[in-house]
Order: sequence, then structure tokens, then C-alpha cells
Amino acid sequence: MINRDRLAELSQREKLVFTERNPRSKAAYEQAGHLFGRVPMTWMNKTAAGFPVYLASAHGATVTDLDGHSYVDFSLGDTAAMAGHSPKPVVEAVQHRLQTLGGASTMLPTEDAAWVGAELARRFNMPYWSFALTATDANRWAIRLLRAVTGRPKILFNSYCYHGSVDESLIVLDGDGRPASREGNVGAPTDVTTTSRVAEYNDLEGLERELANGDVAAVLMEPALTNIGIVLPEPGYLEGVRELTRRYGTYLINDETHTFSAGPGGATGRWNLQPDVVTIGKAIGGGIPSGAYGLSEEITEKIAERKDLDLIDMGGVGGTLAGSALSVAATRATLEHVLTDQAFQHMEDMAGRFAAGVDRTIKEHQLPWSVSQLGARVEYRFADPAPRTGTESARSADPDLEDFLHVYLANRGILLTPFHNMALMSPSTTAEQVAHHDAIFERAVRELLSARRDPS
Ligand SMILES: Cc1ncc(COP(=O)(O)O)c(C=O)c1O
Repeated sequence: MINRDRLAELSQREKLVFTERNPRSKAAYEQAGHLFGRVPMTWMNKTAAGFPVYLASAHGATVTDLDGHSYVDFSLGDTAAMAGHSPKPVVEAVQHRLQTLGGASTMLPTEDAAWVGAELARRFNMPYWSFALTATDANRWAIRLLRAVTGRPKILFNSYCYHGSVDESLIVLDGDGRPASREGNVGAPTDVTTTSRVAEYNDLEGLERELANGDVAAVLMEPALTNIGIVLPEPGYLEGVRELTRRYGTYLINDETHTFSAGPGGATGRWNLQPDVVTIGKAIGGGIPSGAYGLSEEITEKIAERKDLDLIDMGGVGGTLAGSALSVAATRATLEHVLTDQAFQHMEDMAGRFAAGVDRTIKEHQLPWSVSQLGARVEYRFADPAPRTGTESARSADPDLEDFLHVYLANRGILLTPFHNMALMSPSTTAEQVAHHDAIFERAVRELLSARRDPS
């Protein structure tokens, strides 16, 4: 449907506009010669226009860049800022801890940690919690513990999942349906097929085939895939995963880092799931690094029986800054005052409007695209019907089209997550901001499909 010449021509035009619009960001990028890749973290080079916009300030769902442009931020730090940027209760809690009380990192517990543990237990129905600073570490430590208690070597993942830079997770099914190292698995310590197994999301037969080998300690999965577009569970799939994991003596970890968008207790709470472990990170800290993993009664009992496991000193689990006073103070403020039940209601309403707007444009222009929603998260994919596995969703990617839309939107004051077409709503996101996206998205599509040469 998309005329590739027209797409190339419009992309070129938008990249020029971007460059002319952002001279200070461009200069800052050019001056950062002592940063590896010119950016603080190499992923920040995932930008469609050759350099990233530089952050000047951010409040609520609005970001302002170095050149003075303001953006409706639907990226929200790829979920790290789902609570909105610098929410007041978090700022106050951080100031109180850092300035008034003092002691950001001391390796001593604070009462906030116990409050957060109890709140996470209530939301995710998981009784015992421990902290990390990132979701990656929460996942790493959870899988170490489950390998230890089961004595099994492997972890199973869904093809095209993402759980952070966890070595074991960088596995996919290749074009012939065979397990293989994922593209971008930089410096792998070992052949990933020796540490991991893989099955397609929504494929219970494939899952059973792998679990039947009897060597899988845990399935680590998102209840819905969110990192290759949103892939929602088909009826019976999640129940089937739980039944099969129990049958084959494999533990089930729900990574709720992104599916937290489904509600105050993530997808686990919303769909009444019963995993053995929940991991989470990003949004719970309200912008301050924070991660956590929750363990079932059964797992903590099994760990307690294992007197040989050293979890107090050299255990391979834990980090100096994890559960720091600052991190748990921010997490408490986020959960107590910002990402509340009421806030989720508003976020989901905004997401519903966003999805309806995208759907209207898709239908109006009869595009073979689809839009999926998971609570406060929305994503459109260049496939219709919406993909049902990670591999199908990966096949529907169109990097040139994605880049065009990202730059077009950025030039008109809208940020989407750079990695895909994901939009997330915060408690501060407004109906006007969503309507702005509706209008600009429709205009981008109209320009793309029109043979006219003039910018509208
Ligand atoms: C589902 C999921 N788990 C874990 C992570 C890792 O988070 P972090 O990079 O903050 O450690 C991500 C990051 O995108 C994620 O999407």
C-alpha cells in the first residue's frame, strides 16, 4: 500500500526539517566526542534522524528539549516514567530522604522498604519481596534462585521477548523454527541454546515440547509481549502455561516491568494469574532507579531448606545499591500517591482514546495495520489482524516506515518510544494531548498516501 518512493521522499524532507529545527541538540551531539557513540548510553543512538533531541526539562507528560520545543511525551522513558516526569510526591520524598534525613545509600534498611514490600504483596498477590535497581537485575537474580532450588540448568523464553540484557534471554526461533542466538547478542558468554529454551508466545504445544525435556527451571515471560509490539494472550493460553509449568515441575516468572500498564497489580492482578515469581522495575521508582522481585511462599521455603546457598555474602544475588533508602523512598511515594488505582483508571481511559484515534485513521484509509491496547499502553503494528506470536510481529516491522512516523511526529511535538510505535499514558496525560496525536498521525498517513508533493 505504501509507495516506497513517496516514503523515501517524505522521510528525507522530515529529516531535513528535524536537523534545521534542532541546532542546539545537533551541536551538543557533535561536542560529545568523549562519549562512546556520542551518547551516555549506546541505545540513545536509536533515533530516526541522525541525532537525538537533548532533554532540557520534563514535567508530567511534557518534555522540553534544548532548542526550546515542547513535546507530548508518549514514550515516557520506555515505561521508566509511566508515573509522569518528576511527580510531586516523588520529588518531595526524594528531597526529604536526600536533603532532610540524609543517607541515600547506606546498606541499612529503612521502614519504607517494608511498606513497599507489603504494597507489592497486596497488588501482585506475592508474599515476599526483595529489591534491585533495574528490572534486568531483578530477572537475573530471580532466575539464579530458581536454578538453585530446582537444580535444573535452563530457562525458557518466548521468541522475541525482551527482559533486559539477561544473557539467557537472548534466544529466538529462527526462520526454520530452530532455537538460535538473537541478533544483537553481543559478546555472548556461551551458546545461548545451552542455557535456554524457546517457544512462541501463544503456542502451548511448542511450550510443552520444550518443557518435556525436564531441564527447565523456570519460564520467564511477560503475560503479554510488549517489546515486539503488543501481543495479547489468546483465550486459554496463560491458563495453559500455568498448567504445563506445574505439570513439568517448572516455575513461572511473570515479568511485569511493562505489563504493569495493565493495572495497579499489572497483568498478574488484572487477569488473576498465579505465577511463582513476579519481577518488575522501571515505573515503580517514579523515575528513580528501582526494581523488585516477589517470591511465593513455596519458593522461600525451598530456599530456606537449602543451607548450602549463600544469600548473605557471595551469593551472586544482590547489589550494593539495591533497596537503597533513596530508591525505596521514591518507590513508596510512587505507589502510595502516584500510580494509584484511580490514576490507572485515567491512564486507561486516555489509552482507550489514543487507540480509538489510531483505529479511526487506519479504517478511514483502509490500511492493513492494527492497534492493540494493554491498559495504559497502546501500540500500532503494520499487520492486520494483530500478530499472535513474537515472530509474526517481528515480521511485520517496517523500519523505514517507523522512522518516518517517528520523525514526522517529533517535528510536530510528539515523542513515541524510539524502539517501536508504543505510546504510554501517565496520570498527567490529557485528552488534548491524545487529540494532538490523533490529528498529527492522521496527517502523516494522509501525506504518505497522497501523491501530492507539497507539505500539508
Ligand atoms: C519486560 C522487560 N523486562 C525487563 C526490562 C529491563 O529493564 P531495565 O533495562 O530497566 O533493566 C525491560 C526493558 O525494556 C522490559 O521491557
